[in-house]
Amino acid sequence: MDFIKVTEQKEPFVALVELNRPKELNALNHQLMTELLVAFQQLDKNDQVRVIVLTGNEKAFAAGADIKEMAEKTAIEMQLMDRFATWDQIRKTKKPIIAAVSGFALGGGCELTMMCDMIIASETAKFGQPEIKIGTIPGAGGTQRLTKAVGKAKAMELILSGRFLSADEAHFYGLVNKVVPVEMYLYEALQLAKEIAQMSPIAVQLAKEAINRSFETQLDEGLAFERKNFYLTFASEDQKEGMKAFVEKRKPDYKGK
Ligand code: CAA
Repeated sequence: MDFIKVTEQKEPFVALVELNRPKELNALNHQLMTELLVAFQQLDKNDQVRVIVLTGNEKAFAAGADIKEMAEKTAIEMQLMDRFATWDQIRKTKKPIIAAVSGFALGGGCELTMMCDMIIASETAKFGQPEIKIGTIPGAGGTQRLTKAVGKAKAMELILSGRFLSADEAHFYGLVNKVVPVEMYLYEALQLAKEIAQMSPIAVQLAKEAINRSFETQLDEGLAFERKNFYLTFASEDQKEGMKAFVEKRKPDYKGK
């Protein structure tokens, strides 16, 4: 892989995925996104990985889709290439993904953080959908996910003006989980990953699936979906182990079975 670096077992059962196109501020070209999807699909199948942390570098998580790659394309070429189809696949990743964000998370970069399940931000992080400044609009979910995350008024302001949101504002609006000093953002994300990786991976994935359902269904259907996943955990050895360990006042040892 040229633009993605994957390190497994950084912490037990945690994989670190780094976007690695630093000179272009990790601009998300087609090759990078294809590599990223392959990496996620492989990690999803890897029993030694329970949680994924996705990061860029201190200056940029990612400054958006690669403008140079698409600048001269026609609408029909864009439609036929349907590059965002690759991006859509990322949300099918079953394991939780934590974005560790420092510096620019703009356009497709911001959209990529919102495809993740949690965001830990450095205090230098800047989130934004500046596509309007280059004569276009978000194309990888920004108008939908940002609106759901921060509400209509703020999403309108950000998407129509191209203004950036500081890390603290992003925290205030509920876009990110936590803001920490720049030297801590990756550590914090890995710590959260490590904590989640100690839980039953089956329960974690069923919970992620149920939470994501809430964005797509009415309450009745979402509640029924949650209940089925709740009952399904009782088919796992991990649920038996978790409840037995509680009764025996000891730490559970989850096997992902
Ligand atoms: N695509 C391609 N190249 C990019 C890029 C992008 N999105 N963002 C930065 N780069 C490149 C720059 O062209 C520059 O390359 P050269 O050295 O070869 O000129 C290099 O990265 C460094 O960038 P800057 O010199 O501009 O760095 P800066 O610190 O002065 O500014 C910045 C940083 C404010 C992030 C600025 O680079 C910028 O505005 N980038 C574009 C942000 C943007 O508009 N993103 C949205 C893209 S469209 C999109 O994402 C659609 C979608 O919904 C999926």
